[in-house]
Amino acid sequence: MGQALSFFKLTIEDVPIEHKTVLVRADYNVPLNKKGEISDDLRIRASLPTLRYLLDRHCKVVIMSHLGRPDGRDASLSLEPVANRLAELLGQPVAFVGDVKGDQVVQAVKKARAGSVTLLENLRYYREEEANDADFAHEIAAATQARYFVQDGFGVVHRAHASTDAITRFIPGVAGLLLEKEYQTITEAMEHPRRPLVAVLGGAKVSDKITVIERFVDVADKIVIGGAMANTFLAYKGYGMGASLVESDQQPVLERIYAAAAKKVGQDAVDEFIILPSDLAVADVISETAPRRVVMADAVATGDKALDIGDQSIDTVVETVASAQTVVWNGTLGYAELPAFAHGSARLALALATQPQTTSIIGGGDTADFVLKWDGGTGESFTHVSTGGGASLELMSGEKLPGIERLLDARK
Ligand code: 3PG
Repeated sequence: MGQALSFFKLTIEDVPIEHKTVLVRADYNVPLNKKGEISDDLRIRASLPTLRYLLDRHCKVVIMSHLGRPDGRDASLSLEPVANRLAELLGQPVAFVGDVKGDQVVQAVKKARAGSVTLLENLRYYREEEANDADFAHEIAAATQARYFVQDGFGVVHRAHASTDAITRFIPGVAGLLLEKEYQTITEAMEHPRRPLVAVLGGAKVSDKITVIERFVDVADKIVIGGAMANTFLAYKGYGMGASLVESDQQPVLERIYAAAAKKVGQDAVDEFIILPSDLAVADVISETAPRRVVMADAVATGDKALDIGDQSIDTVVETVASAQTVVWNGTLGYAELPAFAHGSARLALALATQPQTTSIIGGGDTADFVLKWDGGTGESFTHVSTGGGASLELMSGEKLPGIERLLDARK
């Protein structure tokens, strides 16, 4: 990437944090399988550099997080399994406390030694968390007696909640190493990319990604559209999409996007700038056993559901990313839960993994889950796999994220 930007907030490296009690906000909102086990621990592993940095400096580390969207106390969304996994990864005990404030927390923190880790229970057992309640944040601060608040939960910084916003009124807030890395990597790719910059955007809905598509019309050299989102684009272009998912209310948005694209590259070059699939993999039903049938985009029959980009389109995507210096990928290119319709996403992942000279940034959520499963759980084949879903989209869109804004400013 181009010239490195300096981070605009203070980080744990900028303050005298040695021997202090530190309250870390992590995003341990991890996916759980049907048995309630952690199915992907990327977010826990991603928090280790900050934790190790603090432990090496003899801090007493207290961590807080949310998990899922519980309605009050809900044992199936306890963070206790996360404490166990974290202990394994850190190679040291993690004390788990069944609350986030009050006497249990006071006693646990008193008992904790320098160089220890304590994880508090799910913040969202209290509705005050999402309400950004200042009294609740004050109670957490008082119970932990933390000297610094460290925001390292990149995945949750787009939320203005008690543990991301109000808490900074009671404890000085600085960034952790994961937050800094996520912010810097994504911002540099958007603001100073090595060019050509290709954005590959998939997923189900245009309506979820309007601002990010518009931002890429501005900053990218090419945009590849896949996933069910491509159906809506193709329908806008006049193609019949059969029984495929199409958001017909998004036509005015697409009109705006195409007008901006034409202004940037000229009307004649628009279709080389926003690249739509030329063929599609379709099925009559969405099922494990449905065979992959490839048809041209103008030959989708009435009962066909488009579930992946077609083989010709996959070649186009692979060629397009081969000519890029930076690729930002957000959203799977098809119905990737079904192997027959994961071809587009798998071939793109393979292409990126085998061109290490290209900066590849994979947006969080479903796309990160897909590449991690594909890559043996590590994500090491790519430059950066983001731990943020909504947060990475909002950052790419150029929005200000409350959980970052509230931290102390870096000295100029
Ligand atoms: C996420 O998984 O995107 C974050 O943890 C935020 O979770 P939320 O969408 O429930 O606020």
